[in-house]
Amino acid sequence: MASEIIVATTNEHKLREIGQMLKGRRVTGNGIWVKENGKTFEANAIKKVKAIKLKPGQIGVADDSGLMVDCLGGSPGVRSARFADPPTPKNLCGKLLRLMKDCRNRNASFVCAIAIAFPNGGIRVVKGIVHGKIADKMRGHSGFGYDPVFIPTGYRQTFAEMAPAEKNRISHRGRALRKLKEIIS
Ligand code: IMP
Repeated sequence: MASEIIVATTNEHKLREIGQMLKGRRVTGNGIWVKENGKTFEANAIKKVKAIKLKPGQIGVADDSGLMVDCLGGSPGVRSARFADPPTPKNLCGKLLRLMKDCRNRNASFVCAIAIAFPNGGIRVVKGIVHGKIADKMRGHSGFGYDPVFIPTGYRQTFAEMAPAEKNRISHRGRALRKLKEIIS
């Protein structure tokens, strides 16, 4: 069984979340930055996973994720990481809240597509989604990106107010990673 997972990411937070979810496996980041110019999360994940040079016995994993806000027509979507410069939680969430100041519909979803590259050259894609609402202001300090403004359905806390394990249990990435785990186990 291939045991080492190579993750195509330069994002330490994502690498930590993936490592926590895949406990018992060796998870290494490849630190390679790939331009994300695809129109969908799936296309970007596949592009990133193809950039990994796999050695025998390794499995490549790449995720592409983002936030889709209903009243902004699905934005920031695949542009979530580039929505503000520099993309700190304060800048990302601040810009989002400003754009949404007249939005009564606060519905939003986090989406995560994970592409898996197998030693035989095959590629599979799994997806995870979590629905929720955008808060009126930033709350909490945990996590990254848009976590301080995202309240998952059925909860009062934002992702940034939750313990990492609780976020992983319900998040888009957690859901996609559980599908990944089933496939590679
Ligand atoms: P990418 O998948 O590297 O393109 O990055 C997607 C961007 O979406 C991240 O840089 C964050 O800004 C945002 N994002 C994706 N997943 C999460 C999450 O779990 N919490 C908060 N923001 C996220």
